[in-house]
Amino acid sequence: MPSPPARIYLSPPHMSGREREYIAEAFEQNWIAPVGPHITRFEQAFAREVGVEHAAAVGSGTAAIHLALRYLNLQPGDEVLCSTFTFCASANPIVYEKCSPVFIDSDRQTWNMDPQLVAEELDEAQRRGRLPKAIVAVDILGQSADILALRKIADRYAVPVLEDAAEALGATYEGRPVGASSWASAFSFNGNKIITTSGGGMLCSNDQKLIEHTRFLATQAKDPGPIYLHSQIGFNYRLSNVLAALGIGQLEALPDRVAARRRVAEYYERELCRLPGITFMPEAPFGKSNRWLSVICVDPKQFGASCEDIRLALEAENIESRRAWLPLHKQPVFAGCRIRGGTVAESIFDCSLCLPSGSALQDSDLERIVACVAKCAR
Ligand SMILES: Cc1ncc(COP(=O)(O)O)c(C=O)c1O
Repeated sequence: MPSPPARIYLSPPHMSGREREYIAEAFEQNWIAPVGPHITRFEQAFAREVGVEHAAAVGSGTAAIHLALRYLNLQPGDEVLCSTFTFCASANPIVYEKCSPVFIDSDRQTWNMDPQLVAEELDEAQRRGRLPKAIVAVDILGQSADILALRKIADRYAVPVLEDAAEALGATYEGRPVGASSWASAFSFNGNKIITTSGGGMLCSNDQKLIEHTRFLATQAKDPGPIYLHSQIGFNYRLSNVLAALGIGQLEALPDRVAARRRVAEYYERELCRLPGITFMPEAPFGKSNRWLSVICVDPKQFGASCEDIRLALEAENIESRRAWLPLHKQPVFAGCRIRGGTVAESIFDCSLCLPSGSALQDSDLERIVACVAKCAR
């Protein structure tokens, strides 16, 4: 029996080769700990890349979001606005802090938080006399939210904007790197991201106090002094020095990774736009997406098959694809949370499918994927 074709994954890790050198250095220096020189180097290089003054390396993107929210001294029951079209990790830290997410629908141009809906929500919240304490604005699938529009509205009410840039490292907004234009931005180095440390995250900001406090809370909130003294509850959230060494090597390859993912997206657009009923995630005019994942939207009436049919056909050929996020206001765990709008995110979910988007995809892989999608057409 012929062996099945090799599996094509959605977004696998892509090593540059340099990572081993830096990891070997960490081993030679015996910094096998959540402290060490590679953490500082990774933080400094990352802050330069994002165009901010400070960065704190932590164990995950979720931890970065959590510690930024923690800094805001939220009280149980406070409200925090959050994009609905995103992964659960954007909103979970709001609940860790015993606060209530209020979900905001996407706009059609970016698939990110709609600034108009945020304006309506803040206006009503002020009239109710209870403003939200923060906004978690997500840069979904590698595309920046309209951060300056969001900030302009939020600034009127002095509500800080935390950018969840977990998926968007290397993208730009108004000519600046994503993550540079908000109060703070959180990045993820999970295994499926554009660069990876297997697991890890970074909080970036020009607010030095926020970043210093993040490092303090991420290492169990030890008060200065010779004894273990704690006047706050901390977390064990710091990134390992070994993983930071991996991150240094990955970060050096970032421009190549963005270029490769953009090439993948261009290939799909060129090859699949001929098929009836297939459209693509739009790219907003104010920035350049890193195209972390390439997403097609399928009109089943025109195409002759649904996005779920295509997913199953790809799976039968050992190709991984993924439906886009089920909006958070539709998740059982967030039942009861308020939602403003919601139909845009729901309609994106209904029609969209994320295709394999890794930066190491070969032309032959792309041809295999496109041929399989094309076979599903009427
Ligand atoms: C939008 C978004 N936010 C947050 C996260 C959380 O990052 P991590 O997995 O590093 O905790 C992820 C990815 O996992 C994500 O896609």
